[in-house]
Parts: sequence; C-alpha cells; structure tokens
Amino acid sequence: MPLHDKFGRAITDLRIAITDRCNYRCVYCRTGNDGAQYADLSLDEYLRMVRVLVSLGIEKVRITGGEPLLRKGVVGFVEELSQFRTPEGTQLDLAMTTNGHLLEEMAEPLKQAGLTRITVSMDAVDPAKFARITRVPNGFQRVLAGIRAAKRAGLDPVKVNCVLLRGFNEDQIVEFGRFSRDEGVIVRFIEFMPLEEDRVWSPEIVVTLDEIVRTLSAWKPLRELPPNALSETARRYTFEDGVGEMGIIAPVSHPFCGHCSRIRITSDGKIRTCLFSLFDHDLYREMLRGATDEELAQYIRAVVEKKEARHHIGEPGFVQPSRSMVHIGG
Ligand code: 5AD
Ligand code: SF4
Repeated sequence: MPLHDKFGRAITDLRIAITDRCNYRCVYCRTGNDGAQYADLSLDEYLRMVRVLVSLGIEKVRITGGEPLLRKGVVGFVEELSQFRTPEGTQLDLAMTTNGHLLEEMAEPLKQAGLTRITVSMDAVDPAKFARITRVPNGFQRVLAGIRAAKRAGLDPVKVNCVLLRGFNEDQIVEFGRFSRDEGVIVRFIEFMPLEEDRVWSPEIVVTLDEIVRTLSAWKPLRELPPNALSETARRYTFEDGVGEMGIIAPVSHPFCGHCSRIRITSDGKIRTCLFSLFDHDLYREMLRGATDEELAQYIRAVVEKKEARHHIGEPGFVQPSRSMVHIGG
C-alpha cells in the first residue's frame, strides 16, 4: 500500500532540505542575521531517508535547502539519487530549487548527474529590486547567468519562482511575462505565505491570483492551460500566441490542500507533514536509535497518516509555525 494519509491523499512527492545555510537573505524568508540555526546531516544520512521513502511510494524528489548548491558533494548526491528506482522500477523525477547564485558552473554537472529539472527563485528582473529583496548586492547577473546555463544544459523545464510582495516587486508582473517569453522559461508567481522569520506578513502585502491575472491580461490576453497532474499546485497560463508560460501558485487565495501530495524533510532530519505544521517528527532520532529500514518505514507511515487536512492562513487563531521556509525548504 503506497504512502497515504487518513484523508486518502497519496503522498508521492518529497522535498528534502540538504542544508540550513543560505547565501541570500530574502525579506520574505529569513532574517537579516547570518548563520544557520540547525545542524546539517551527512549526505549519506539523507540518502538513507530517501531510499526508505522511495520504497514507500515516493516518486518525485525535490532537493532544497537553505541553498542546496552550497552543499559540497551535491552533484554526487544527485548521482546517487538517480540510481534509485521506485517499486515499479521507474526512475525518480529529480528536481531542485535553488536561488541560482552558484548555478552557472553547476548546471551542466547537475544535468549529467541525472537531475531532471530545476526551479530558480528570482523575485525581480530589475537588478536593484532584486538586491533589495535578497539583501545581497550584485546577485542578479549571476542568477540570470545560472538560468541561462540551466537552459543550455538541457534541464527541462527551467522554472523561475517569484514571490510577489506589495511594495517590493508587484510592478514586475508584466516584466516577468516578457522574461518568460524571451528566455523560454516557465515563470511561477507564488502568493506570499506567513512563513518568514521577520514576521512581516499581512493580508495586504499578498498579491493575489486575481490581481496577477488581471495585470497580465491587461498587457496581453491569457489562455488557461490544463493542469499537468492531479496534484498540480499552479494555475497555468500562456499568452494568445502560445509563447511563454506563467503559473500562479495561490495557497492563500485559492488553497490546494485537498490534493496535496507532499511531505518534507528538514535539513536536521525531521519530517514535516505540512508547511504549516506546528510539530516536527524526528526521523533522524529514530536513525540514531539504530532503527532498521523496516522500522523507519513504519515510523514514516504512522507520521504521514496524521498529515494535517489543510492550512488555516487568514483564519482567526492561525498560528505561524516556528520554522521559516528557509528551514523547511520549499
Ligand atoms: N511565501 C511564499 N513563498 C516562499 N518562498 C520562500 N518563502 C516563502 C513565503 N513566505 C519560496 C521561495 C522558493 C520556494 C521554495 O518558496 O522563493 O522559490
Ligand atoms: Fe499541503 Fe500543508 Fe501546503 Fe496545504 S498547506 S498544500 S496541506 S503543505
């Protein structure tokens, strides 16, 4: 019986953070302070966790962080994962989310190692705005070069994630439409969720799906595309001429928890069944206790069974989880 929760959702999609460190300080994610909060595990320890999860029916693995490209050995890690097979004998869908700062040199080796696709976070196509959001100078050109290198290496698709924040980058919507068309990448706008360390979230700062659609359509008429999969989180659009693809991920205004297929492992080896979980489940502790693979599998099954029904953003009594996205990893 593949992994599923008590609501009958099949859990097929794992995100694993392989470091807590990041070289950016995005305002919607972590504080301006330096330093990681949690200790990383060895890459072999993450590999063991993934191996057990794949034996339980995980089909898609997304490598995240922190910033995963900061981790020495990440290419070898991808290579190991590319050898894994699902119980049906198929290869994993292997993805990564990165800020792109170190991607230019690594795109080709990652592709060679078996990475399928990549998502680069880039929140502005204007270098000054980009610097204001990431709080590091001169990152923009590197990230742009990283995106282009990923295209050249044949990673497919290359997606660009943009978190829109009113007062920072809502004027970049049309610019990103142009960017998608010019660069041949899928741009995905993500509604800002209350997962940041600096506690700046408010409903007013969220740029919603409706507003994004209105802004883009006023520039060029949009055509909606069908979802890629049942667990698709993005509403997908192209323009009338079919050039460019824009996705909108709207967890705040249009939640998609009902068909959520995801679980997460944090860089310190804890399972999170929801981005908004108030508790972690310490898989690493089980490993340290000397659990066998079978015992780890039992533990994971029991944890996944209890996955939350949905988030409660915007409802009275909503409690923001104590870990920001940088510690959870996308
Ligand atoms: N709200 C929405 N998206 C976020 N991300 C990070 N923090 C937040 C947040 N609070 C995005 C990153 C990255 C992806 C993993 O999630 O930009 O692209
Ligand atoms: Fe899945 Fe939780 Fe996100 Fe809802 S809020 S989509 S349940 S991770």
